Parts: sequence; structure tokens; C-alpha cells
Amino acid sequence: MTDKALSGVRILDMTHVQSGPTCTQLLAWFGADVIKVERPGVGDATRGQLRDIPDVDSLYFTMLNHNKRSITLNTKSEAGKAIFTKLIESCDVMVENFAPGALDRMGFGWERIQEINPRMIMASIKGFGPGPYQDCKVYENVAQCAGGSASTTGFADGPPLVTGAQIGDSGTGLHLALGIVTALYQREQTGRGQKVLAAMQDGVLNLCRVKLRDQQRLAHGPLKEYPQYGEGKAFGEATPRAGNASGGGQPGWILKCKGWETDPDAYIYFITQAPVWKKICDVIGKPEWKEDTEYATPDARLNKLGAVFNTIEAWTKTKTKFEVMDICNPLDIPVGPILSMKEIAEEPSLRETGTIVEVDHPERGKYLTVGNPIKLSDSPAEVTRSPLLGEHTEEILSQVLGLSSQDIEQARADGAV
Ligand code: COA
Repeated sequence: MTDKALSGVRILDMTHVQSGPTCTQLLAWFGADVIKVERPGVGDATRGQLRDIPDVDSLYFTMLNHNKRSITLNTKSEAGKAIFTKLIESCDVMVENFAPGALDRMGFGWERIQEINPRMIMASIKGFGPGPYQDCKVYENVAQCAGGSASTTGFADGPPLVTGAQIGDSGTGLHLALGIVTALYQREQTGRGQKVLAAMQDGVLNLCRVKLRDQQRLAHGPLKEYPQYGEGKAFGEATPRAGNASGGGQPGWILKCKGWETDPDAYIYFITQAPVWKKICDVIGKPEWKEDTEYATPDARLNKLGAVFNTIEAWTKTKTKFEVMDICNPLDIPVGPILSMKEIAEEPSLRETGTIVEVDHPERGKYLTVGNPIKLSDSPAEVTRSPLLGEHTEEILSQVLGLSSQDIEQARADGAV
């Protein structure tokens, strides 16, 4: 009887930094046994990055490596390679996001892995797929730029912008997790493992799909829902930056709310959804717009969206963002408060659903993290703290690989673990 969706699945986690660890953390929350392999004495580089407390694993590390076990292993030493080979034999999936070629240099390319364990699924994140940039090292913002996000983010008259959402790292980790469970499902039929690749450029582009949509729409005329259309500015050859315009068919914008002069997050996203336009007119004190042919239809409003939102803002500025929510939601007017991280951290409903979780760590004490955003009714995720470097080395060597205490002593003496 399994108690979690992925109970019985063992993951050989060779990931580091953010993209790969996000993926294996999700698999761990779904119940997989995730064994994180780290270099002896060094570990995942993020353990020491952006530290808030001296000599304690950083929040960067702890928030990406919950529910995992850590083994230290020098996979480049001969004794380490022997142990690594046993780990490959004992696991279902290897996940890695090393720079291109690192596994081959270690002596564990795809052919070798298949020889050791034909059922092994080998899942990789790389910056780019095959092509001119396949050998490049890539971090989050490089992927955002190369995947079409930066060129389409920001205001039309400003430079490209990266976004705070980690769509290159965490976004690609999510894509890879889906690839892994799909490959596990196929293995049920074929008995064979396979390679799974998620390139960060591809993952970002997938999330920017609507911008490639707009690129092709441009050939048939201006993008009328983009602010520059209303401002009478010509379109160029590529999808421009659209400021805070909505990516869909219902115009929206970020508007100031009461207190905006001092509170950087006193704003609301306001969508002028066509079916509720008349209610919007009443709420903002413009009932005459309901029948005015210049304002009554979505098409008529397109060339004056800036003025429309300025008028709505004159109303939202008299209310807090939460008052706007309270007034608009019962009327089905779609609005969204700009919530600060402080407000999110303190939001009781997110604590109740396990989306924000307080975790206790032996060295740093209590801290907040984001729990599993994907909720399975039969496989609820329980967030447990990230492992200390090598915390489970002995346990894994003896319980998973069946090494005797003598063998373990020898591995230590050889500098393998
Ligand atoms: N034992 C021995 N050696 C180990 C080891 C272990 N347990 N774990 C890692 N190493 C070695 C690797 O084999 C590699 O050695 P090599 O360069 O001699 O072959 C080395 O450590 C470092 O790996 P690398 O991946 O090159 O790390 P980096 O810090 O230089 O680069 C990235 C970091 C993220 C730029 C790079 O890994 C990358 O481009 N990854 C793919 C894209 C990605 O995921 N980016 C997002 C990260 S959030």
C-alpha cells in the first residue's frame, strides 16, 4: 500500500543551484525518495550563497531542497565511481543540471548509464537545446532573455526587463518534473528508461507562447490591445513590450490605490472585462459611458484605453486595494491586489492550505518556505527540512546500497565520501 503518489520511486539527485533542485523537490513532495549527491566538503554551491546567518545553510538552499536526503560523494575518484555505479543501479531516475558535458567527463554519459541500468530515466536541464548555444552555461536571466521574456517585458519606451518570477529556473524545473513522471509512466509499458531534456530557453519560450502568437498577429495589423495602439505609436517588426497590459483579450492595467504615495504596493490590477462593463461604469461614477457609442463597446474603447484606465484610477485612488476588491468581486469585475511578499508571508489562508509553511531547521531555527503548490487529494505533501551536507551518507551507503561498516570506513579512507 503506497501512501504517496511516487512512493517507491528513487531519484538520484545530481542537481544544484535552482532549476534542478526545484524539480527534485517537487518529486520528493509527491513521495519519491530523493538522494541528493554532493561533493564532499563543498556541497551545492547555494548552501553558502546569500547567507543571512553565518555558517548556516542559506535560505536559498533550504527553500529548494526540502524532503531530500544528502550523501557526499566524490564522483570523480575511483572509489566514488564504484559507489556511484551502485547508486545508478538502485535508482529509477537520475536528475542533473550540470554544465553541458560534465557527466561525460565524469565517465557517466547516457550510454554508460544505460549499460548500468537500462530502466534508468536520465533527466537533464540545460540552458539551450541542441544548436549553436548548446555548450553554454546558463543562469535564470540568460534564459529569460533568450526565451523571449525580456524583449516582451517592460514598457514600450524603456529597456527590456527581466521578471522576478524565476521562469527560467523554477519554470524549467517544473517542465522537467512533468517529463520525468511521463517517462516513468511510459516505462510501465516498455520497461525501458529514456532521456528527458528540458532546455531553459524552451521552457521560457513555452511560457511566452502568447508573445509568439502576437508576433504572427502583427503581420495582419497593429496589436490593438497594446497601449501603444491607443497612443498612436507605430509598431515595429517584433512583438513589443506591453507594459502592464493583459496578455489576453480583456484589457487590464495596474492602477494606483489609496496610499500609493507612501506604499509601493498600494496598487490593483483592474480588468475591463466586456460583460461587466456596465457595472464598471456605475462603480466608477461614469454611468453615461454605458450608452455612449464612444465607450459602450470593447472595439470603441480600444483607441482610448489609456484615458479609460486614468478615469478608473481616479476612482481606485480613493480606495485601498482591499476595498476595491471588496467592491468589485461581488460584481464579478476581475481585479487583483498587488500583494507584497510581506503580505503574502502573513496571509493566513496560504498557511492553512500549506502553500506557505513554517519549517524548523536545527541550525537556523524556524523559517518560512513555499510548500507544494500542486495539491493531490490522495497524496498530500508534508514539508520536511532540507538535509545538512552529507547528513545521510552512512544511512544511504548501508540501507540503500547494503555496504558493511567496514566498506563504509574504507570509502571514507579513500576520500570517496
Ligand atoms: N563529485 C565530483 N565532482 C563533482 C560533483 C561530485 N559530487 N558534483 C559536481 N562535480 C563537478 C562536475 O563534474 C563539474 O566538473 P567539470 O567541469 O570538471 O566537468 C564541476 O563540478 C562543476 O559543474 P558545473 O555544472 O560546470 O558548475 P558551475 O558552477 O561551473 O556552473 C551552471 C553552474 C548552473 C552555470 C551550470 O551547471 C549550467 O549551465 N547548468 C545547466 C543550466 C542550469 O541548470 N542553469 C540554471 C542553474 S539554476
